[in-house]
Amino acid sequence: MRKILITGGAGFIGSHVVRLFVNKYPDYEIYNLDKLTYAGNLENLKDVAKKPNYHFILGDITNDDFIRQLFLKEQFDGVIHLAAESHVDRSITHPNEFVITNVVGTVNLLNAAKAIWKDNYEGKRFYHVSTDEVYGALGDEGYFTEETRYDPHSPYSASKASSDHFVRAYHDTYGLPVIISNCSNNYGPNQFPEKLIPLFINNIRHNKPLPVYGKGVNVRDWLYVEDHATAIDVIYHNGATGRTFNVGGHNEWRNIDLIKVLCKVVDRKLGREAGTSEKLITYVTDRAGHDLRYAIDSSKLQRELGWRPSLQFEEGIEKTVDWYLSNKQWLDNVTSGNYQNYYKEMYGNR
Ligand code: NAD
Ligand code: TYD
Repeated sequence: MRKILITGGAGFIGSHVVRLFVNKYPDYEIYNLDKLTYAGNLENLKDVAKKPNYHFILGDITNDDFIRQLFLKEQFDGVIHLAAESHVDRSITHPNEFVITNVVGTVNLLNAAKAIWKDNYEGKRFYHVSTDEVYGALGDEGYFTEETRYDPHSPYSASKASSDHFVRAYHDTYGLPVIISNCSNNYGPNQFPEKLIPLFINNIRHNKPLPVYGKGVNVRDWLYVEDHATAIDVIYHNGATGRTFNVGGHNEWRNIDLIKVLCKVVDRKLGREAGTSEKLITYVTDRAGHDLRYAIDSSKLQRELGWRPSLQFEEGIEKTVDWYLSNKQWLDNVTSGNYQNYYKEMYGNR
C-alpha cells in the first residue's frame, strides 16, 4: 500500500490528478492537502469525496510546524506537490504571496519529507509540478527543452523557478528522491475564471467585454488538463529520480485566434448568431512583462516514457465549453463574493 500526499488537490489541475489517482489506484491512500484559497474548491472533487482511499486535509503549506507534524503522523511514501499561487496577473499586484506560498511552502514540504525519510529513500518520491514559464519567453521560433536556461519574467514564474531550484538543491545536497515536470498552459473543466479560457467563456455567457491584452499576438501552447494528469501519473511512477520532464501539447495558438475559435464554439452552443461574441473583443493595456511565446518540446517524455496527449484541441475545446455551460452553478458560485472585487481591481468597470 502506498500513502501519497497531493498538495493543492482542490485546485484546477490538482483535482484532476486526485481523481485519476483515487480511481486508478484503489490500493493507494490519497491525501489531499489544501488550504482552500479562492482557487481551491471541494466541489471539484465531489465525485470522489466518499471513496474509502480518499482523505482531505485542510491545511497550509506555509505553516512549517503543521507540515512537519502532518508528515510525522502520516509517514507519506510520496508527495505530488501542486499547491501554489498560480495566476500571473495576481503575482504582479501581490508578489509577496507568491514568494511565501510557492517558495517557502515548497521548502517546508522538502524539509518535512527529508525529516521523515531520513536517508532511507527506497520507494520514496517527491514530485514537484512546475510550469514552462520558468524558461521565459520564446521568439517566433524554437521550443523549450529540459536544457533551456531559466529566465523567468513575472513574479509568478520567478517564484516557480526558485522553487524548482530548491527541489533540485535538495536532490543534489541531501539525495532527496525528487522529480520535476514543467508543463505548458492547461485548459479544461474546473479552472478558476481568472485564466483566459474560463474567464472568456464566462464573459461571453454574460455578454461582457473580452479583455484582450495588447494586440492579442502572444502565443501559448495549450494542453487539456486530463492529459497533464496522465503525464503526472506516468512521470510519478516511471520517471527516474533527479530528472526533469517537459509536458506540452504541441498546440500553439495566438491568443486572438484562440479567442475567435472560443467565440464561435460558444455562440454555436448558445444558439447565438455566428459573429455575435466576437463583437465583445476589447483590446486593453498589455500585461506588464508579458511573455511573447511559450512552446514546449515534450519529445523526451514521449520517447522515454511513452506519454502522448490524447485529445486534439478541437475536441478539447468542445468538451471544455460544454462543461462550463452545463456547470453554470459552479461558475456562479466561484464568481460570487470576492471575485467581484478582483474583477474590478483587474479590469475596472468593464
Ligand atoms: P490553482 O490556482 O487552480 O490551484 C492551486 C491550489 O493550491 C488551490 O486548491 C489552492 O487552494 C491551493 N493552495 C494555494 N496556496 C496553498 C497553501 N498555502 N497551502 C495549501 N494549499 C494551497 O492552480 P493550478 O492551475 O491547478 O496549478 C497547479 C500547479 O500546477 C501549480 O503549481 C502551477 O504552478 C502548476 N502549473 C499550472 C499550469 C496551468 O496552466 N494552470 C501549467 C503548468 C503548471
Ligand atoms: P493566462 O490564462 O493568464 O495564462 P498565462 O499568463 O499563465 O499564460 O493567460 C493566457 C494568455 O492570455 C496570456 O498571453 C495572457 C492573455 N490574457 C488576455 O489577453 N486577457 C485576459 O484577461 C487574461 C486573463 C489573459
